[in-house]
Amino acid sequence: MKVLLINGSPHKQGCTWAALCEVAKPLQAAGIETEIYHIGAAPVGGCVGCGGCAKTGECVFGGPPAEALQLVKDADGIVFGAPVHYATAAASMLGFMHRLAWSGGNYLRHKPAAIVTSARRAGTTTAIEAMEKVPQFFEMPLISSTYWPMVHGSSAEQVALDAEGCQIMRNLGQNMAWILKCIEAGQAAGIKAPKPERGAWTNFIR
Ligand SMILES: Cc1cc2nc3c(=O)[nH]c(=O)nc-3n(C[C@H](O)[C@H](O)[C@H](O)COP(=O)(O)O)c2cc1C
Repeated sequence: MKVLLINGSPHKQGCTWAALCEVAKPLQAAGIETEIYHIGAAPVGGCVGCGGCAKTGECVFGGPPAEALQLVKDADGIVFGAPVHYATAAASMLGFMHRLAWSGGNYLRHKPAAIVTSARRAGTTTAIEAMEKVPQFFEMPLISSTYWPMVHGSSAEQVALDAEGCQIMRNLGQNMAWILKCIEAGQAAGIKAPKPERGAWTNFIR
């Protein structure tokens, strides 16, 4: 089993990375492989709804959303991490998530997801809400912890001093490991993921 942890910060080894490393610890202790994918330091734009991915199977604008697709396909669980920028999730991470979801949502479906945020001071709950929208759309069981999933600091060293934040991250990783093992046991017992009902597509126009 493998969990993909996505670092949506421009800083490869900053606060978000430090938080993801804490989440990874109990996963690894439970025998689950982990990989941190960094979306990079360059700005990542959002989805333009061009429909190109419906033909090619990946975002036609390339970049991190296309690059990460194979990792998403191979993952059993996904952790989305982002710093807070202007009191919400960093725009590049939202752009990444929207393009990944539009082009590869079926590879997200039914995989447990977790959200992680880092901030110096404020905006974490708004960032969490913004990031939750993708897992909620793709039937991903959303893993929770002993508090809302946030750490505080301006550097990885400061995050290490946020004892409660790091504890929340470890509890998050532990819960992700537990749910993954429950799903594995369920599959071994013949329990399959439900097939969603389809067909209705109602726009609010008369
Ligand atoms: C453009 C920008 C906007 C930011 N806005 C906020 C903010 O609204 N609230 C906050 O607490 N920190 C804000 N910060 C600070 C970062 O969120 C914080 O230091 C975070 O932990 C950095 O994570 P990273 O090292 O993974 O990038 C901002 C940083 C940048 C670069």
